Amino acid sequence: MNAQTPTSSERAEKLEGMGCRRKRVEDIRFVQGKGNYVDDLKLPNLLYGDFTRSPHAHARIKKIDTTKAAAVPGVVAVLTAETLKTVNLAWMPTLAGDVQMVLADGKVLFQNQEVAFVIAEDRYVAADAADLVEVEYEQLSCNVDPFKAMDPNAPMIREDLKDKTDGAHGKRKHYNHIFNWQAGEKAPTDAAFEKAEVTIKELIAYPRVHPCPLETCQCVASFDKIKGELTLWGTFQAPHVIRTVGSLISKIPEHKIHVISPDIGGGFGNKVGAYSGYICAIVASIVTGRPVKWTEDRIENLSTTAFARDFHMLTEIAATRDGRVTGLRCYTIADHGAFDACANATKWPAGLFSIITGSYDFPAAHVSVDGVYTNKAPGGVAYRCSFRVTEAAYCIERAMDIMAKKLAMDPAEFRMKNLIRREQFPYKSAMGWEYDSGDYHVALQKAMDTVGYKQLRAEQKAKQEAFKRGETRELMGIGVAFFTEIVGAGPSRACDILGIAMFDSAEIRIHPTGSGICRLGTKSQGQGHETTYAQIIASELGLPADNIMVEEGNTDTAPYGLGTYGSRSTPVSGAATAMACRKIKAKAQMIAAYMLEVHDDDLEWDVDRFRVKGNPERFKTMTELAWAAYHEVPPGMEPGLEAINYYDPPNFTFPFGAYICVLDIDADTGEAKVRRFYALDDCGTRINPMIIEGQIHGGLTEAFGIAMGQELHYDEDGNITTASLMDYFLPTAVETPHWETDWTTTPSPHHPIGAKGVGESPNVGGVPCFSNAVNDAFAFLGSTHIQMPHDHWRTWTAADKLGLHA
Ligand code: CDP
Repeated sequence: MNAQTPTSSERAEKLEGMGCRRKRVEDIRFVQGKGNYVDDLKLPNLLYGDFTRSPHAHARIKKIDTTKAAAVPGVVAVLTAETLKTVNLAWMPTLAGDVQMVLADGKVLFQNQEVAFVIAEDRYVAADAADLVEVEYEQLSCNVDPFKAMDPNAPMIREDLKDKTDGAHGKRKHYNHIFNWQAGEKAPTDAAFEKAEVTIKELIAYPRVHPCPLETCQCVASFDKIKGELTLWGTFQAPHVIRTVGSLISKIPEHKIHVISPDIGGGFGNKVGAYSGYICAIVASIVTGRPVKWTEDRIENLSTTAFARDFHMLTEIAATRDGRVTGLRCYTIADHGAFDACANATKWPAGLFSIITGSYDFPAAHVSVDGVYTNKAPGGVAYRCSFRVTEAAYCIERAMDIMAKKLAMDPAEFRMKNLIRREQFPYKSAMGWEYDSGDYHVALQKAMDTVGYKQLRAEQKAKQEAFKRGETRELMGIGVAFFTEIVGAGPSRACDILGIAMFDSAEIRIHPTGSGICRLGTKSQGQGHETTYAQIIASELGLPADNIMVEEGNTDTAPYGLGTYGSRSTPVSGAATAMACRKIKAKAQMIAAYMLEVHDDDLEWDVDRFRVKGNPERFKTMTELAWAAYHEVPPGMEPGLEAINYYDPPNFTFPFGAYICVLDIDADTGEAKVRRFYALDDCGTRINPMIIEGQIHGGLTEAFGIAMGQELHYDEDGNITTASLMDYFLPTAVETPHWETDWTTTPSPHHPIGAKGVGESPNVGGVPCFSNAVNDAFAFLGSTHIQMPHDHWRTWTAADKLGLHA
């Protein structure tokens, strides 16, 4: 070979394909302030909408008088439930099979509920006039406690369902009951507990929290009366689903609805569902014949759109005296608020919560979840996790620590003893999931070796002795968490949304010069899809990633897809991208064979070209083949080089990780200082290690926020007391600890490139790790379980209860 000819690996490196720390191409516009967000959209004659909201958590509406608001100069119209009834839109279906008021109809069911929508020439006029809508309320007794929801005399939240004994998921046992959902097998689980040598039982609560994207939810609706077409720009994580749901609700034919998600400033599950603001903006545009914009502010975002968690899990583990788990039982009360608007796949009212056995080899397990209505905002989204997986991971990881303590075993040693072994994969869990691949012991051992686990425990022991002797007021906590995620919803046999199977798609067109465009049904909200999908194509097709443009978020041009949430983009659309590439490659191979006058089978692939086997000097590069596809195809072959793939995954993917946190707590102030946080993630084949690190840093910061301070709190009267960032903890760079990241690589055997998702993992694994660390700090003083969030005040209170301030 000539000295100047680049080697295969040099050519591969130039492509910036999979495994390359390629810089994020989207950042070129973001760091220059040139992103294109909904709020950047300027349309002529734009109107602005704003809501009048309920001050009460539960009240009957006696009268709504819009006269004063309508008289404000600049106000164009005011919508109420009565107006919406004329177009049959006062209520809308939810993703969970329930219905939800768009504007309050007869009564309000949670504080800040939407009561009227004021449309004006100016955003501030709309806001001022919204305050002038006069609503006469008759207050009703309210309930925000899920444990009291099914009391005999509990306030009836949903009068519209009063006589319904059946819900979307079976029998209802109380007027505030939504569903009961069970998984696993009860009889063998109960038998395991009867025989158990050691058991633990603890109420492990995951408080109500809320994603905090920089950009709140917003949209612009523009209805063209002449064409009968609606264009809707919005912060939608799932634009095609919004189009389909929009068509079903509005009866506008689906082909006459154009949904566009431009750049989105963070989603984290918050932007999956359909909100009143979208419906009202659409109706307002139809009524006024002008485009209408709706933008929520931070208080509206925190108090009305899509909360997460609010799972209260009574958890039991059975084990042998020598530390082998034999059974898991969990009864959960899930607070869904006033309407069941949970963003789950249809058949799963408690999401994928049955991943609760986690990374451990439980021979028997059973869960039962009751969903209930309360006077809180609706939602139940997967806040940076797959549906209800964070709840499950938190529950099992706390429970494992509690059991380890009861057995007087080290929590890491207890985990090592019960982790699913490498040779057990593919592993069928007691809940029926088939885990695709894993090498758990290697991951946990690597984590322990890296942080010097043994030495840390020795240091902790010495500190505990010193604390007992009164020589220090500092408590040292070491948190261990080993999590298994279930991402990539999903296989259509298991998952659908409103009957639409949860596949996803990619369409790739290679242009004559060897550049191309890839359009997808997913939608990045900051995950770097424009960078990483191009890397998959670069490796698959041998074309430089820089030559591939990735486009998402336009329902007119992208193939149908179910959107981005729950780390599904890589497992599903990443697979679709690889499969579409393979169709293109197969055609390119036939063209190469024709041009080189050999049989297809006589060719082999080499990074960016097909070459003749045994004669590597004879080859055609992919760039040459792209050109040929437009002028030199074999006789009878269609010209062009493009392909589309709809990928219905055979299974979920199961990323996993081992996290260790070391922190010190001041017993007198309750302040916890994170000394060290180490996160080892295994997401199978890594597409872009730099983006993965970024995803982990962001997710760990969210996990830190959740574990150490976030809670959407309501007082007894249903007033939300944490509806602004003054009260709702959002960590900044000042509070955020330093993150150490690491990895192992265990490819998924069923994914075309072996990749699993990663975006959600740090939130799923991070929260229990922080919580275990705080709990671990107090465990030697006899404490079993301190509920999240672990802010200073609650931690101080926990210390106080243990008598540390006597
Ligand atoms: O669905 P979502 O994009 O939120 O999550 P994801 O599929 O876990 O991907 C998040 C980001 O990490 C994307 O830019 C992926 O391409 C990247 N990623 C990666 O580089 N390697 C993996 N094995 C998984 C994700």
